Amino acid sequence: ATIPKFVDELPKPVTAKPKYYKGQQRKDYYELKMIQAEHSFHKDFPKSIIWGYNGLYPGPTIEATKDKSIYVRYKNLLPLQHFLPVDYTLHAANDSKEVRTVTHLHGANVDWESDGHPEAWYTRDYAQTGPKFSKEIHEYTNHQPGTTLWYHDHAMALTRLNVYAGLAGFYLLRDSIEERSNLPCGDYEYPILIQDKSFNEDGSLFYPDEPPFPVPVHPSITPGFVGNTIVVNGKVWPYLNVEPRKYRFRFLNGSNRRGYVISLSNDEHLIQIGTDGGFLTAPQEIQSVELLPAERTDIIIDFSKYEGKEITLVNSDEDFIDEYTREIMQFNVCLPLKYEDTSEIPERLAVSMDLHSHDAHIERHLPLTATTDDFGRPMLLLNNRMYHDPTTEKPALDSIEIWNFINATQFDHPIHLHLIQFKILERRPFNMELYQNEGRLEFTGPPEKPHDYERGWKDTVKAEAGKVTKIIMHWKDYAGNYMWHCHFLEHEDHDMMRPILVMKDVH
Ligand code: C2O
Repeated sequence: ATIPKFVDELPKPVTAKPKYYKGQQRKDYYELKMIQAEHSFHKDFPKSIIWGYNGLYPGPTIEATKDKSIYVRYKNLLPLQHFLPVDYTLHAANDSKEVRTVTHLHGANVDWESDGHPEAWYTRDYAQTGPKFSKEIHEYTNHQPGTTLWYHDHAMALTRLNVYAGLAGFYLLRDSIEERSNLPCGDYEYPILIQDKSFNEDGSLFYPDEPPFPVPVHPSITPGFVGNTIVVNGKVWPYLNVEPRKYRFRFLNGSNRRGYVISLSNDEHLIQIGTDGGFLTAPQEIQSVELLPAERTDIIIDFSKYEGKEITLVNSDEDFIDEYTREIMQFNVCLPLKYEDTSEIPERLAVSMDLHSHDAHIERHLPLTATTDDFGRPMLLLNNRMYHDPTTEKPALDSIEIWNFINATQFDHPIHLHLIQFKILERRPFNMELYQNEGRLEFTGPPEKPHDYERGWKDTVKAEAGKVTKIIMHWKDYAGNYMWHCHFLEHEDHDMMRPILVMKDVH
């Protein structure tokens, strides 16, 4: 049966409240409990079991202010057994048969023990802990430009399942640029989490227990899960009633594998004000924006000319798309204007702070390649190494580096680096066959500029197939153990993830 669209209203995730101690108020300490709960994805569906922070999907939004530290404890109160199919053959998944969790704050400038390292996992009530676990309370100093971050589970070899189960939420970091500006806010600002999901008849979440080809392992990881419904802020194909005025939307693709090329059905342009890492130097009009998993974009939509109209947010990505999944949600411009829209989009936003190639201390060449694992299953690697191979990316603290992702696989991959925000310098096509056969890099065309919607700070970049994607970053504030990986969660969980060790005192 087809699922009726646009019958549930888009919810706004609740804001997390700091925990108060007896007598003494601590405004900067939060406790989020990971618990199993029931969730309604759609009016016509039976309730579904989810795992959520405070039992909510999406989790409560943490509101933080630049340079003001907050402390968060994410307590694992989940059942000991997973309700989705666990593959115990994946890297360290054998360490514990119980449900392991660890929360990563994606895009944050943070000390490594607060980062949410995949091996810093813990089971319920911290009964068992992973080799990199050291503290229960994460400290976030918020020392970075204001932007849209998100927190999500990152447990070794369980990330795809834990995030799919619902363990994800927003972390909005606000700064003085935003305070000084008069951007749409309050009721006119929405964080938008897009994830695709599939459901069984009884309303439970569906996740495959093996790939669509024979493998000697069961349950087994698949090369990538795509759902047949689009879920926005926890509702399947929701609608939002809006006033004929400007709104601010912070879009986040939190899907396991699916990409989105977002645009409006009436061809109205989008006004982009920010990327993963913060505000652009100036707002810009764009027609569409591509978001691979984990990418964010900060967008103003002006509905003032569309009173009485229905506008659909559409996905024109060509992969995995059908007549159902090409629609994401609907805006219904049916509310009367409450007040005159006095919000403004400033002409200048962030101060430009570019990194220059000639300042780079080291340039790395990092291939993305396809191989097979011990069970004959397809496996993708970074720098030709598996997760547990010795660390090869060891930037010195306070150095500037250039990384080249040489994508010799058939697919684009969203590559994410923990800790830092980077700039994309260029992409350049190369001769794949020559590279695969002889390991020689020969360019087949001129360098290409980054796309118009990815010219600000980024922490996740589309490494395009058959191209070298060049980025530049400054390892500025913290030394320690971080990660880089593909943010397709089935790839990350199957060795397309590598450690980074930021080294102090190398001189
Ligand atoms: Cu959002 Cu290491 O991931």
